[in-house]
Amino acid sequence: MPVVRGKNIEPLYTADQIAERNRDMAKHIAQGPTKDLLVIAVLKGSFIFAADLIRALHDSGLAPEVEFITLSSYGTGTVSQGVKIVKDIDSDVKDRDVLLIDDILESGRTLRFAKELLFERGARNVSIAVLLDKKVKRKEDLEADFVGFECPDYFVVGYGMDVAYAFRELPFVGVVTGDAE
Ligand code: IMP
Ligand code: MG
Repeated sequence: MPVVRGKNIEPLYTADQIAERNRDMAKHIAQGPTKDLLVIAVLKGSFIFAADLIRALHDSGLAPEVEFITLSSYGTGTVSQGVKIVKDIDSDVKDRDVLLIDDILESGRTLRFAKELLFERGARNVSIAVLLDKKVKRKEDLEADFVGFECPDYFVVGYGMDVAYAFRELPFVGVVTGDAE
């Protein structure tokens, strides 16, 4: 088992499995609405997934423009939760097909906020691609159009995803299982 920062990391999805799903997802995305396609990666967690999926989109014949938006949730526990824009995109989305890319769809608050924002700004279509879908955690009526893996309810790290800014560099998705010997 890989040991990083003195912790055992149990792989959940290997680099090869992820690469295969990315190729499949890109083929499906290429069949959808892709008029003047704008891909928007939701930072920070999606940066590696987006980098790989965007290159798979090229292999599937697409030539999207690429943008980034940084979103963060606020409020915890009993306080009502919201999402705020930390860093916005620069492009105009009016009448364009947009593909949002994020690492994990959990409660759905982040992506619901992003999708509504883009429709309010006049996007023609907004679809969602996520690497992982944690369905049991859903709080909003929102589904992704393209899903890499249906993920069990573990806290996962790697392939861009972090715990306290660590483990983003791992080329696979894994679960921290404890201290190494
Ligand atoms: P939600 O769908 O608005 O609840 O937001 C999901 C976001 O929370 C993801 O985009 C991640 O940034 C973060 N997140 C949720 N679960 C995990 C996890 O298991 N590991 C790392 N980040 C997570
Ligand atoms: Mg995120």
